[in-house]
Amino acid sequence: MSSSTQNIDSVLHEERVFPPPIDFAKRARISSMEDYENLRREAHDAPEAFWARMAEELHWFKKWDTVLKWEEPHAEWFVGGRVNVSYNCLDRHLETHRRNKAAIIWEGEPGETRTLTYAQLHAEVCRFANVLKSLGAQAGDRVALYMPMIPELAIACLACARIGATHNVVFGGFSAEALRDRINDSGCKLVVTADGGFRRGSEIRLKPAVDEALQSTPTIEHCIVVKRTGSDVAMQQGRDEWWHELMQNSSSDCPAEELPSEHPLFILYTSGTTGKPKGILHTTGGYLLGTHLTTQWVFDIRDTDVYWCTADIGWVTGHSYVVYGPLSTGATVFMYEGAPNHPDPSRFWKMIERHGVNIFYTAPTAIRSFLKWGEEWVRKHDLSSLRLLGTVGEPINPEAWMWYRKVVGNERCPVVDTWWQTETGAIMIAPLPGATPTKPGSATLPLPGVEADVVSKAGESVEANAGGYLVIRRPWPSMLRTIWGDDERYRKGYWSEFPGAYFAGDGARRDREGYFWIMGRVDDVINTSGHRLSTMEIESALVSHEAVAEAAVVGRPDDLKGSAIVAFVTLEGQHAASDELREELRRHVAHEIGALARPDEIRFSDMLPKTRSGKIMRRLLREIATSGSVAGDVTTLEDISVLEKLRAEEE
Ligand code: WT7
Repeated sequence: MSSSTQNIDSVLHEERVFPPPIDFAKRARISSMEDYENLRREAHDAPEAFWARMAEELHWFKKWDTVLKWEEPHAEWFVGGRVNVSYNCLDRHLETHRRNKAAIIWEGEPGETRTLTYAQLHAEVCRFANVLKSLGAQAGDRVALYMPMIPELAIACLACARIGATHNVVFGGFSAEALRDRINDSGCKLVVTADGGFRRGSEIRLKPAVDEALQSTPTIEHCIVVKRTGSDVAMQQGRDEWWHELMQNSSSDCPAEELPSEHPLFILYTSGTTGKPKGILHTTGGYLLGTHLTTQWVFDIRDTDVYWCTADIGWVTGHSYVVYGPLSTGATVFMYEGAPNHPDPSRFWKMIERHGVNIFYTAPTAIRSFLKWGEEWVRKHDLSSLRLLGTVGEPINPEAWMWYRKVVGNERCPVVDTWWQTETGAIMIAPLPGATPTKPGSATLPLPGVEADVVSKAGESVEANAGGYLVIRRPWPSMLRTIWGDDERYRKGYWSEFPGAYFAGDGARRDREGYFWIMGRVDDVINTSGHRLSTMEIESALVSHEAVAEAAVVGRPDDLKGSAIVAFVTLEGQHAASDELREELRRHVAHEIGALARPDEIRFSDMLPKTRSGKIMRRLLREIATSGSVAGDVTTLEDISVLEKLRAEEE
C-alpha cells in the first residue's frame, strides 16, 4: 500500500466478471468488444469526422459547416447547422410505423394510467407551444417548469424546445426560496406548474410555493397551472392561467423552429455539495446527439421495448433519459408519478409486471432501499420482461450491484453502471451491454469519443490501480457550455485544476484492463495516517457484511491520525444494533480492506441524511461526527427529522 498523500489510495478489491449473455450480445447494436474498439479507435484518431458521421443520424434542417470550434474552455458544435430537438423527438417519427406507437405510458401514484402515442404527444406539444407563444414566449426566453412527474412536464419541455424557449426545470420537491432563486438567476418570463402532485399517498402542493416565490420574481409575466389533484388554489387575475383552458383553444399546428445548433436548450441548476447552485447550460445539436447515441449504445434500446428510467425530470437524468434520449430514438417511455413504496414496497415490481417493462434504469440509493425492504417484495412478481438493468447517480457498492443482478435481474440481465454528471449531459463511462464484460462496482470503459483519464495532482496519468482524479481530455458534443451568468466560475470550476482537461470533481482508479472504478467526489476523501482513502470503498466493505443495508463514512479531525474514520450504518430489517456487531463490523472492514481502513467509530442509525436526488450528505454527517450538531445549510436535505435521530444516536 502506498503512503502517498498526493493521490488517492485505492483499497477495494473486486474480482468477479460477468460477460454479456450470449443471447443479448447476438441481438445487440454493438455486439462485441471488437466493434467497440473499432468505434473507439475511429473516434480517437479523427474525432470530428467521427462525430460528424454520428450526427448524420439526426434530422437537420440545414447541415453544419464546421463540426467543432474549440477555444478552451468554450466549445461550439455543428456550427452553422440548424436543428430542433422537438422535431427530432416527434415529427420525424410521424412519417414512420411509430406514428401510432405509445411514446409515453404514464401511471399516477393513485393508480390511473394514460398513454400518449407519438401522434398524440406531437399534437399536445404543438398546442402547448402555441400557448407559450400566445403568452409572449419567444426563442431565447427562459421558462421555469415546477411540476410533478406527469406527462404535462414532458410536454412542456418539448414545447419549449420546439419554439426555442430555454427551459429551467426546478424539481417539484424544492422549496419556494429555491424556486425563486432559480427563476431570478435565469430571468424566467413564464412559470408552468400544477396545483400539486401525489407522493406517498398525500398531496404535495406546488401552487402555494409558486405564489410565495412569485412575490419576488420581477421577470415573471404569467403562470400556467395544470389541474392535477383538484385541490383549491388561488389564481391571480391577469397572471395565472389554467393549462386546460389555454389548451382548449390552441391550434395543434406549430412548425418547429429551425434553431442554430448552439441555441440554448435548457438551464438546470445543480447544487453540488457546497455553494450557490450553478445554472448548467446545455445547447441543442450536441446535447441531442449525446443523449440520442448513448440511449442506443448503453440501453441498446429497441422499438418493441418499454423503457423505464425512474428519475424525476427535475434532475438531468430525467432530462436526458426520460425525455430527450429515448424519444429521439422513438422508444416507448414509461413514466411514474410517485414513491417506490406506495402503497407498499412492491409498487415498482408491480408496475414492471403490469406494463411489461424491458429496460429499467434507477439509482444505487433506490437499490439499497429495495435491498433493505427485503427481496420477498421483488420475488412476488413476474419480472421476466426485464432484459437490461441500469444504475446512475453514485458509486454502487459491489454487494448492491450483485443483489440487483440476482434478485431483480434473475441473473439474466446485464447491469450497466453509468457514470456521468449534469455537466456532461449524457453518459460518459458505461458498459455496452452486448459487448463489455461487467465487474460489480465498475462503470467499466469510456464510450467512444470520450477521452477519460485518471491523473495525479500534478496532472500526469497514474499507473494501473492507483487512485487519482478523473478528467476528460477532449471536448464532447453534450458537454455543458458554461454556467449561466458566470462564465468565470465555469472556467475556474472545471478547466483550471488540470491544464487542458475538464476536471469532473470525482476520484477514480483504472484497473489493469482499463476499467474505471469511480470513487466518488474528491471532497469525500479521508486522509487517515497518511493514506487518502475513498469513503466509498470503506462503505462498500461495510455493505458487504450481511447485517448492513447502507453505510456512510466520514472523517473526524484527529490529532494523531489526521482524520479518524466514523461510519454511520443502517442495518437490514432483521438485524439489531449491539456492541458485538459494532466490533464485528470493525473487524470485517479490517479483514476486507486492511487495518488502515478500520473505522474508529461506528454509529447505528435508522436513516441517513440524503439530498432529494438520493445522495448521502456526508457534509452533514461530518459535522455531526465532529461537533455533534449541524450548523451548515440543510435546505437540500430530504427529511429533516433524520438529523434529530442521528443526534439522538450519540448517547
Ligand atoms: C455525480 C454527478 C448523472 C446523473 C445523476 C447525477 C456521481 C453519477 C455515477 C456512477 C459513481 C456516479 C459522481 C458525479 N455519479 N453516476 N455511475 N458511479 N458515481 O448527476 O447530480 O450531476 O451528479 O454523481 O460523483 O460527479 P449529478
